[in-house]
Amino acid sequence: MRDNPRPVQRLGARNLARSLAPLAALALVAPGPAGAAAEPIVLKFSHVVAVDTPKGQAAELFRRRAAELTQGRVRVDVYPNSTLFKDREEIEALQLGRVQMLAPSLSKFGPLGVTEFEIFDLPYLFDGYDALRRVTQGPVGRALLDKLESKGIVGLAYWDNGFKVFSANRPLRTPEDFRGLRVRVQPSRVLEAQMRALGAVPQVLAFSDVTAALRAGIVDGAENPVSNLWTQRMHEVQRHVTLTEHGYLGYAVIVNRPFWEALPRDVRAALERALAEATAYANRIAREKNEQDLARLRASRTAEVDVPTAAERLALKRALAPVHAEVESRLGGTLLHDVYRAAGYAADAPPARPGPAEGRASTP
Ligand code: SIN
Repeated sequence: MRDNPRPVQRLGARNLARSLAPLAALALVAPGPAGAAAEPIVLKFSHVVAVDTPKGQAAELFRRRAAELTQGRVRVDVYPNSTLFKDREEIEALQLGRVQMLAPSLSKFGPLGVTEFEIFDLPYLFDGYDALRRVTQGPVGRALLDKLESKGIVGLAYWDNGFKVFSANRPLRTPEDFRGLRVRVQPSRVLEAQMRALGAVPQVLAFSDVTAALRAGIVDGAENPVSNLWTQRMHEVQRHVTLTEHGYLGYAVIVNRPFWEALPRDVRAALERALAEATAYANRIAREKNEQDLARLRASRTAEVDVPTAAERLALKRALAPVHAEVESRLGGTLLHDVYRAAGYAADAPPARPGPAEGRASTP
């Protein structure tokens, strides 16, 4: 069940033939015998969450708009809920051309060897969506996507899910509450460091296995945006959900590079337009969906919803501040400070300062 964060297989000579598979799909756009309708280009889009989530809904919009804007020359087949591939497998499948498009969470690029994306996992990095956007929509966000090219992947866009909450069978309001808990995390060294800083034991598991692992007691807790917790029914196997909003979970929409670059220019332009619409939609509905699902969770009277006080939040933030220093020394270079600066913090501001949610309306 463990989804090991081993490096994903790189494309080598052995895999070259298989990596050309996406190009075979494109041969289908060539006109057939006179009068015969050309077969559409099939773009498989695999993801691991439910349809009724920000990513699931944006993928559906992309599917519809791609068909409309290419007038049927492209057919997008969306495979939600890990029906085709689980977390670790899906990026390898993209490199091998078994799927053409994915939107993995930013925490899942470490095993591919692009550890810089783990910067988004830093606890209490963003005070809200505005600070986040200044990073993802600016040169820092673009430079991170460009790092994927050498892996045979084109990074096209960022999609939001939202800010994460913790769940367990007890409230998790202060660092002491985490001691000894086994908490599921995504395959990110920053998330592992985050859990260790709280005295918990991080357990890396594929997303599709989390609810079953919580039910079986293999892990005691998890961290998720509410939309993921709700749609995977984790609230039915956890007695408490604590609204810590301690970290961000978002996605990079990525495509197989040989497939993308071999598309006819007008088809690629139409897909870029469909994706721009899906991106605007994802980022518009993400907060709304998380709020709706929180209201549903409260109304369901399953798990109890706990809200940390400003003092409790600040204690969590202080306990987690060393994770920033750990990332800085591991990643080296200026990335962390570039992100702070883009987010609007003073370049060397320590992240444990009180923010608006801790009772001081400070600009970072
Ligand atoms: C996702 O939202 O794609 C899944 C995130 C996770 O693995 O927790």
